[in-house]
Amino acid sequence: MKNYNVAVVGATGAVGQTILGILEERDFPVKNLLPLASSRSKGMTIKFKGEDIEVGEAKPEAFEGIDLAFFSAGTGVSRKLAPEAVKRSVLVVDNSNAFRMEPDVPLVVPEVNPEAIARHKGLIANPNCSTIQMVLALKPIYDESKIKRVVVSTYQAVSGTGVEAIEELKLQSQEIIKGIEPEAKVYPHTIAFNALPHIDVFDETGYTLEEWKMVRETKKIFEDDSIEVTATTVRIPVINSHSESVNIETIDKITPERAREILSKAPGIKVYDDPKNNIYPLARDVSGADEVYVGRIREDFTIPCGLNMWIVGDNLRKGAALNAIQIAEYAAEHDLI
Ligand code: A2P
Repeated sequence: MKNYNVAVVGATGAVGQTILGILEERDFPVKNLLPLASSRSKGMTIKFKGEDIEVGEAKPEAFEGIDLAFFSAGTGVSRKLAPEAVKRSVLVVDNSNAFRMEPDVPLVVPEVNPEAIARHKGLIANPNCSTIQMVLALKPIYDESKIKRVVVSTYQAVSGTGVEAIEELKLQSQEIIKGIEPEAKVYPHTIAFNALPHIDVFDETGYTLEEWKMVRETKKIFEDDSIEVTATTVRIPVINSHSESVNIETIDKITPERAREILSKAPGIKVYDDPKNNIYPLARDVSGADEVYVGRIREDFTIPCGLNMWIVGDNLRKGAALNAIQIAEYAAEHDLI
């Protein structure tokens, strides 16, 4: 396999750091690594394969000579710099929401729609973290019987917001225990000991952008506009790993036993479902894992063809960094970089 000059934009952030770790773990064929961040981090070094590498400033010229760039510095940075990278013949795998719904940008979860990768025109979008873990678990169900409707409620970790949010949760938790009234800076309300039904911005429909991402991205990934999805996305005081309660209405009946059987054979999924012995997926256990864990698989008795399940995934790994690297691995294997 060829070796590639790889840039990571947002290398000092929560997702960027995870990307660096996973590139190393999976021995991705990196010729030279270029960590990029804002001008604030210029001159800082990061460790990669035992070497200290200086962090550069993310600007258009930085992409000269780069083959592959992972973007994990937020939507604004992607909007500004991803087209500059593409102009310089870089394959961009973008973690932000900037280009996901553009018709000529593949939106990919490699276990679900890898064939879309070959259609790239220089840019491939990584779906939203909550969408990735949900569609991964929906895929084997969808292959067995088309899905009519999905009702999802999420319980999302603060690491999805970034390093500052993790620090804020830790600080607020300590303050509340000491009887100090905490100050909310990252979120509109205190996140410690709380649950915020508000992720990303509200629009005129009363839904948040995070909720719409789950609706629109699911349809695009399955290339099936007929799947109805309705979502409530909630931020909870968990450091890492998103949990989701998902209700699925299928066209044909799938029993919980059959669902367990097909899910346990599906790539990237681990069925963890023995409630009598208190075995079900938990955010703390799933943090650091590559698989998405599925448990509490049971029939929805209120409709003829319904299932309920609890889906937990590491939002920094499968929900962001790992999925992006799997896209790049597929592109490398198929000579698409
Ligand atoms: P920096 O550390 O220099 O601010 P997180 O999501 O964990 O908060 O991380 C965000 C990442 O995006 C960090 O690596 C951050 O770099 C980077 N970043 C933020 N703003 C910019 C920018 N304007 N240009 C390039 N990188 C940026």
